[in-house]
Amino acid sequence: MAMRHDIQRDTWKQQVGSAAATRVENGMIVGLGTGSTAHQFIYALGRRIQDGLRIAGAVASSQDSKDLAISVGISVSDLDTYTELDLYVDGADEVDPQLRLIKGAGGALLREKIVASATRHFIVIADSSKQVARLGTGFPVPVEVVPFGAALVRKRLEALGAAIQIRMLGDTVFVTENSNIIFDCTFAGGIAHPEELDAHLHNIVGVVETGLFLNFAQEAIIAGPDGVKTLSR
Ligand code: 5RP
Repeated sequence: MAMRHDIQRDTWKQQVGSAAATRVENGMIVGLGTGSTAHQFIYALGRRIQDGLRIAGAVASSQDSKDLAISVGISVSDLDTYTELDLYVDGADEVDPQLRLIKGAGGALLREKIVASATRHFIVIADSSKQVARLGTGFPVPVEVVPFGAALVRKRLEALGAAIQIRMLGDTVFVTENSNIIFDCTFAGGIAHPEELDAHLHNIVGVVETGLFLNFAQEAIIAGPDGVKTLSR
């Protein structure tokens, strides 16, 4: 049963990846997200490029996505080459009705947010299991933290009501591509006021970035049992 569900979810990921790829036009500079859903977009974009689409350039939000993009024929530059993107497509861990997001289960939240902040239009793609009425009910909020003095940051996060798990990779502490660590923060009952919480989190010295993407996605493409739908903010 679980396997059938996984196959179904994979199909939904492919559907949203392909739908987002149809939105790419000749001459665009495109941001490539991270994670299994964003990878479906990268595959679909690669197919469109093989069929003759000519984008002006692409920027990836992680090494993983960069490697995949190159392997499917997308030429990838860094954000210092293109400081303004036309379109960014990425997945999410949670999407609320106002298209506020939790991202970062893959650990790429800082680069994802930098790329998202450089883009004119951000389409979040997800299967319907990612839709929530309130953020923080299914996934923790990842908070990327400088390792120096991390115990102090941890105390301050706990004072905001967070139950914290340090992100691990097997037996060792996970280190981001920016040489930081991640505290996964759970708030009992979810997050009632995401903007307020995000402001408090950013006020803690040592916090580099949070996985709350509150004013970023303009559009969502969601696939589920009812088909593929597009939501706008
Ligand atoms: C990585 C992310 C991913 O986009 C998010 O975790 C969703 O991943 P997936 O599509 O594999 O469920 O934010 O940092």
